[in-house]
Amino acid sequence: LRTLKVALLGCGNVGAQVARILIEDADTLAARAGAKLQLSGIAVRDVHAKRDVDLPQDLFTTDADTLVKDADLVIELMGGIEPARTLILSALRNGACVVTGNKALVAQDGPTLHEEADKAGVQLSYEAAVAGAIPILRPIRDSLAGDRITRVLGIVNGTTNFILDQMDTTGAQFADALAEAQRLGYAEADPTADVEGHDAAAKAAILASLSFHTRFALENVHCEGITSVTAADIAAAKDAGFVIKLLAIAEKLPAAGTDADGGEGVSVRVHPTLLPREHPLAAVHGAFNAVFIEAENAGELMFYGQGAGGTPTASAVLGDLVSAARSLVLGGPGRTETTTGQVSALPIDAA
Ligand code: HSE
Repeated sequence: LRTLKVALLGCGNVGAQVARILIEDADTLAARAGAKLQLSGIAVRDVHAKRDVDLPQDLFTTDADTLVKDADLVIELMGGIEPARTLILSALRNGACVVTGNKALVAQDGPTLHEEADKAGVQLSYEAAVAGAIPILRPIRDSLAGDRITRVLGIVNGTTNFILDQMDTTGAQFADALAEAQRLGYAEADPTADVEGHDAAAKAAILASLSFHTRFALENVHCEGITSVTAADIAAAKDAGFVIKLLAIAEKLPAAGTDADGGEGVSVRVHPTLLPREHPLAAVHGAFNAVFIEAENAGELMFYGQGAGGTPTASAVLGDLVSAARSLVLGGPGRTETTTGQVSALPIDAA
């Protein structure tokens, strides 16, 4: 079997699990990929930092540039815009396939990254960036490629779903439910990104871009978080037969949403939403995520699972990695996604 060198950038919660699985399941992954996936190094800021998982010390380096130059496959799990962006672009220019979980970067700079990947003929994939373990981007991109998606409704932030669910089921106040979410490790380091809806907005931009074959940047997404939702709001909703969920919504606007070129408009937004208690998404409890899709021919579809956590999210990363490895082994086209199309984002106030 051919050996492909895998560089891992970042060794947090998800990165540590990816490294562990790459080592422990090496034989299975090799059989699936058609090549040995050799973890050639892990780039971190501090090689002596304490990790969740025991990993061979000699894998760690602070020299991400050198690691990337020598890799066939690069996994970026550092988060943030820089240096992740520069390292990913350099990997793609070197002809390496890139797998990333970096929703902020993909939401901000997806088209640039895709352009580089297309030029190099290599895969760029980021299943882990939206809804953790749930296979959602590939189904939208590939399985639904022959259909027209009309609406996507997603619970794509586990922290806020956990908080709203706690408030709904136990009557807890927002602050207490947030503290519990932090204790359980669901929230981002700075929970502002979760509770203000920014994390969900980045995911909404990615979902909308793939679902409607166009580009939605973060600034196209109307975003409202859950900080002003009170226990009284939740109780009132409950009495009326509704549950309050923070939804990422991307939907085609018929008729009224026609833009200057005659294309249909799409509204992309994140906000607390009153959902009838019998809607399938109302049954998504705790920190779970789910994405509900309506398509012209397929009808209604729902994808459900763990949207966060080291091991579940590592599953999505490794799925992308095996797929990228297969593309290198088979020498097939690396190009997997496109965000060029005729649908345009409407200004928020037109939605
Ligand atoms: N903090 C995020 C969440 C993690 O709660 O869903 C995954 O992006």
